[in-house]
Amino acid sequence: MAAEIIDGKKVASEWMDSISAELSSLSPPAKLALIRVGDDPASGIYLRKKEEACKKAGVLSQLMHFDKNATRAQVLEKITQFNNDKSINGILLQVPIPAHLDVLALQEAINPLKDVDGFGPYSLGLLAMGNPKLKAATPAGVMKLLQYYNLDVASKFCVVVGRSNIVGKPLAQLLLMQNATVAIAHSKTNDLGSLTKQADFLFVAVGKPKLINAKMVKKGAVVVDIGMNRSGEDDVKLFDGSKAKSPPPVGDVDFNSVKKKASYITPVPGGVGPMTVASLMANVLQAYKLQKK
Ligand code: GUN
Repeated sequence: MAAEIIDGKKVASEWMDSISAELSSLSPPAKLALIRVGDDPASGIYLRKKEEACKKAGVLSQLMHFDKNATRAQVLEKITQFNNDKSINGILLQVPIPAHLDVLALQEAINPLKDVDGFGPYSLGLLAMGNPKLKAATPAGVMKLLQYYNLDVASKFCVVVGRSNIVGKPLAQLLLMQNATVAIAHSKTNDLGSLTKQADFLFVAVGKPKLINAKMVKKGAVVVDIGMNRSGEDDVKLFDGSKAKSPPPVGDVDFNSVKKKASYITPVPGGVGPMTVASLMANVLQAYKLQKK
């Protein structure tokens, strides 16, 4: 039987409605500061989506865009200014940033009570201790999807493929908090398929198009694809033979083959992606409340 398709668009929209109802009733309104350094095109798209979400949710937003040669001191100065500004409840440094800047030093400089991405060492440390204040947005969105579909990971074997600080590691911690047994696989894991095949729940976040095929998946597994790979401009042709302007993203899972074997599966696009912005708004609300305490 084909898997049930997890509808991230629907869940995110319902979640966003309930968060927005609370956010738009706040006085003074919540405010999010966004920092962009350089001209990474994907970052431009993500930031626009975040600004639109703020508008929809009744959150004020302020974008600081540095050029690609900005110095660490310049960015740090702005972070300090945002930290000290009582009207700002959340600070987000969009990554990637140019290589000459030390991303960890900048993330570390963000006031932990304003770290709405949950990427800073304090936020990740609290999460590792099982007592998070602000959870990394994408993994928190994944957990919300599981909850919506009543998919309980307790005592189940969960395999997370990918060990990034922004998805793989925090997701593994959130699963542990729900009493899952968790393994983290990565690029140096031997015989990935023999591990993923044992997973009751498989989460994939490595950025390798169609890495996971049906042979690597256990029958009846829940498969969550957190990959967002931009297919090459030349790969996608429209029905009339012309090139698509903006090809749809491709996930890390071979959706068409895996959906025949899984019990539940997230599509790309329309699975985890839409949850991340709603999750960010949930963190802005949480940060606002933390600062009022
Ligand atoms: N780059 C890709 N995803 C994210 C995200 O969720 N937050 C930030 N700050 N940068 C990103």
